Amino acid sequence: MNNSDSLFVKALNKEKLPTPPVWYMRQAGRYMPEYRKVRKNFKNFLDMCKNPEVCCELALQPIEAFKLDAAILFSDILTIPDAFGFGVKFVENEGPVFENPVRSISDIKNLNAFDPENLNYVYKAVSNIKNELPENLPLIGFSGSPWTLAAYSIEGRSSKDFERTINFINSNKDEAHYFLSRLTDACFLYLRKQVQAGADVIQIFDSWANVLSSEELVEYSINYTKSLIDALKSDQVTSNIPVILFSRDPKCNAETLINTSADCISLYWNMKKFDLDKAHGKIAIQGNLNPAILLESKDIIKKETHKILEKFKEFPGYIFNLGHGITPDIDPDNIKYLTEIVREF
Ligand code: CP3
Repeated sequence: MNNSDSLFVKALNKEKLPTPPVWYMRQAGRYMPEYRKVRKNFKNFLDMCKNPEVCCELALQPIEAFKLDAAILFSDILTIPDAFGFGVKFVENEGPVFENPVRSISDIKNLNAFDPENLNYVYKAVSNIKNELPENLPLIGFSGSPWTLAAYSIEGRSSKDFERTINFINSNKDEAHYFLSRLTDACFLYLRKQVQAGADVIQIFDSWANVLSSEELVEYSINYTKSLIDALKSDQVTSNIPVILFSRDPKCNAETLINTSADCISLYWNMKKFDLDKAHGKIAIQGNLNPAILLESKDIIKKETHKILEKFKEFPGYIFNLGHGITPDIDPDNIKYLTEIVREF
């Protein structure tokens, strides 16, 4: 495939384009009736992720519905903790719940070895999706950041502030760092396999960067994300694959994010003050529209979208996206409308 023809890859290469490429975080999901129809057949969400044919069908649904400029692998960031043996379950109205979360330093000392082959179902989904996509439509592979995966594995579930995790890492620093290194190695092997299976671009989700103070952020999150990106950039298989970093509202400046060596920073919706001058010519930018705007009227959607498009009009390498994922309460018609107004701008 010749990716250089795609708008998405051009933008990742920091080209200024008349119309930005468009894709959406969580573009496949419960807001789509087509998704809900397939989802009904599985009790446990992870069982659905373990079926490569179904993942392929789900990844293609938003491409067919909205003609987007990039597809994303259908899977979840918690496949890695599941492969470590933490026993990940998705409980309705609660989100992910771990059967064997990290509760003591001996759980970390006795950590199972990570075998990337345990996630063969993910690489098979990647190759299935790649086979079905049009020639020049790039496929995004992804993983959680080491920090976000550690946070879920220690907390054992979602949380607003991950208080238990933060207490644990600050009282057991050596073990926390050991755990983060092991997760970094696992993410590298996992992403490398996704690229071998056909992923053209990688996105790293640091979805819980926001719960760390500025010092903790560098120590537990940024340092490991940077090691992961450095490992990808030093490996023959992955060195030319653009890396997008989504860091949710991190307590750091633009330079700290740029210094991770990511090719593109995906801006959370409230990161309005991100210093674009510092980013200009160094990295591409993605995102920034508040997904909650999609619950408003078409007039408001248009007004807010135009504000974002105006802001990034002169920026070399802007990718239109939301500042976080599409929520289940969003009307698919508004996603269609949003895509149209971006392309008409
Ligand atoms: O199009 C896509 O982006 C689909 C692939 C995808 C999913 N999850 C499918 C999913 C991706 C890229 C993710 C990433 C993910 N998973 C993140 C990072 C992005 C972010 O939102 O910050 C995180 C934190 C997770 C962990 C996760 N997965 C949670 C907390 C939940 C439960 C909450 C929720 O939204 O339901 C999930 C479940 C999940 N992952 C669903 C989907 C479509 C819904 C599951 C269902 O249908 O029951």
